[in-house]
Amino acid sequence: MKQSNKRIHIFLTGFMGAGKSRIGKALAEQYGYPFYDSDDVIEETAGKAIKNIFKEDGESQFRITESSVIKKLSLLKEPAVISLGGGAVQNEKNFITIKKYGVSVYIASSPDAILNRVKHTSERPLLNVRKGKNYEARLLARITELLNKRIPTYEKSDIIINRDGLELAEIVEQMYIKIQQFRKEL
Ligand code: S3P
Repeated sequence: MKQSNKRIHIFLTGFMGAGKSRIGKALAEQYGYPFYDSDDVIEETAGKAIKNIFKEDGESQFRITESSVIKKLSLLKEPAVISLGGGAVQNEKNFITIKKYGVSVYIASSPDAILNRVKHTSERPLLNVRKGKNYEARLLARITELLNKRIPTYEKSDIIINRDGLELAEIVEQMYIKIQQFRKEL
């Protein structure tokens, strides 16, 4: 079998709060594929919430579980839409795996738009900025710093979609068109 025939899945990459899960679910519906969120599978595997994995076992243990979950999801026999945690492709091995088994789509969003989506949650250990004076400004600085470090890697995804200013249906439509085009060229 040629390698291209194995690239059956659609992997969503991008920063925390980019909307990967929400968009992924809608895209999966459009394709009639099942949807998986790697973070959910990690939580099921570990039997605890991600913030507790970070707290009790450390980020490095989280990354080990994340890599094995990505491998497991990649090996699914039927095509799926798979949303990846924001740090997943920063590990080159994971990126190589997803490029082998699917099409990668980077959902890009600006730091301000990300801030608006994450500021009321406390589930993400890497954005765990102390509340209080200037909370939003400090959180924005943290998002901007980490996002800028990660963008060069995210941009190695096969397809890039800038979601800012678009409705969910428009994002899904753009993605669908670009994925179909990309698959034709495989
Ligand atoms: C992380 C992103 C999170 C989760 C973990 C680490 C990251 O996923 O995997 O908290 O390193 O960016 P989301 O992108 O789904 O929030």
